[in-house]
Amino acid sequence: MKSYIIKTFGCQMNEHDSEILAGMLEAKGYRPTEDTGTADLVLLNTCCIRATAENKVFSYLGRLKSRKRSNPAMIIGVCGCMPQQEGMGARLRQLFPYVDMIFGTHNVQQLPIFIDRILAERKPVLEILTEPDEIMEGLPAARKEGLRAWVTITHGCDNYCTYCIVPYVRGRERSREPDDIIKEMLGLAGDGFKEIVLLGQNVNSYGKDFKKPLDFAGLLKKLDGVSGIERIRYMTSHPRDFNEELIRTIARLGKVCEHFHLPVQSGSSRILEKMHRGYNREHYLRLVEKIRQYIPAATITTDIMVGFPGEDDGDFRATMDLIREVRFDSSYTFVYNARPGTPAAGMTEQVPDEIKKQRIQDLIKLQNTISMEKNEEEEGSQQEVLVEGESNIGPGLLYGKSRGNKTVVFAGDKTLTGSTAHVTITRAHLAYLEGLLIKQ
Ligand code: 5AD
Ligand code: SF4
Repeated sequence: MKSYIIKTFGCQMNEHDSEILAGMLEAKGYRPTEDTGTADLVLLNTCCIRATAENKVFSYLGRLKSRKRSNPAMIIGVCGCMPQQEGMGARLRQLFPYVDMIFGTHNVQQLPIFIDRILAERKPVLEILTEPDEIMEGLPAARKEGLRAWVTITHGCDNYCTYCIVPYVRGRERSREPDDIIKEMLGLAGDGFKEIVLLGQNVNSYGKDFKKPLDFAGLLKKLDGVSGIERIRYMTSHPRDFNEELIRTIARLGKVCEHFHLPVQSGSSRILEKMHRGYNREHYLRLVEKIRQYIPAATITTDIMVGFPGEDDGDFRATMDLIREVRFDSSYTFVYNARPGTPAAGMTEQVPDEIKKQRIQDLIKLQNTISMEKNEEEEGSQQEVLVEGESNIGPGLLYGKSRGNKTVVFAGDKTLTGSTAHVTITRAHLAYLEGLLIKQ
């Protein structure tokens, strides 16, 4: 039997594409392995959101050169977001001539055909569709075992934030039909999955491309009824499109978790405008207020970037002030990185690296202090935890996520795995909460 390795870089979207790529390989008789020395196929599913992600791929490919020399029959493939950038396919071809196949995000379903072609002709494949075809349904996904499964609801992004490469490599926004989503969720419930994470670059614009009147709130109402599934999460939301009706819907639906991941990017309205985000600081603060009005215990997390072109000390202070005002439970923090072909890359006033470095340090320090305080606020509270298994923190300990998406660790029997436990939080840490199982 032939063996494969898929190495995934980047976001959940890519992770989920890799599950589909793996599903197709397994349907073709390949089985997973960890050993690049003996693998028949090594596929790199790549990310290009920042240069660091690309550099990891370049160095991985460099390391594969000697493997290919000692095992020339091994097929090496590069797919995902990197080759989808203009000129990158040809560049990869030139830099790494021993790579057998290069394809983009819109060619995923052709993987089995590419492999057959390589095996028959031993000629390298370079195929990058610039426009997405219709959404492919029914591709098998080889999901990792567990309780949580990703389900795509929208592909692509039409926002064109000026720093972001995603719209160029993931194509225009396309929503999946609700019936297809429900069918997939029912199948997952049957397979024992308990939690669904709905995926899209901007889940709030779900349905905008439909003729029928169905939006994200409407979709959630339909999905909340899928039996066997206990929790629904979604990523990523866009603050511009997150309206009060949606907050009310989430507050009312039992399965949709009270966790809001709302990337703010900057606290300065001037910078938000240059980013083309479609909202300002006040809009964002009002949105947070509304969420807390309907769901006081909601957890709120965000993505923040420092060093966008033209960001001065005042803009950065505005970001720091916004963090203090909102008090996010946690943040993903990024240093702005110019992506070739995006409008921001061509803006003058690029911020010097030294300043970016100082700002990100200040930001992380502030966020860590607040994250710790937010976690301490949960001490004494009762949390519903979906138990994922044994924790590696210590013997006899289990772990799982609260509805607010925080990791909770507590003593309990491993037979609780897969069930919902009620836990009193006894001690906060920066990265997790410690608790005591409430006897039922
Ligand atoms: N540089 C730095 N961070 C970026 N992000 C997107 N594009 C860039 C870029 N060019 C960040 C944003 C986004 C997250 C997924 O990655 O904060 O929300
Ligand atoms: Fe990029 Fe903006 Fe789309 Fe997010 S919403 S993927 S940041 S363009």
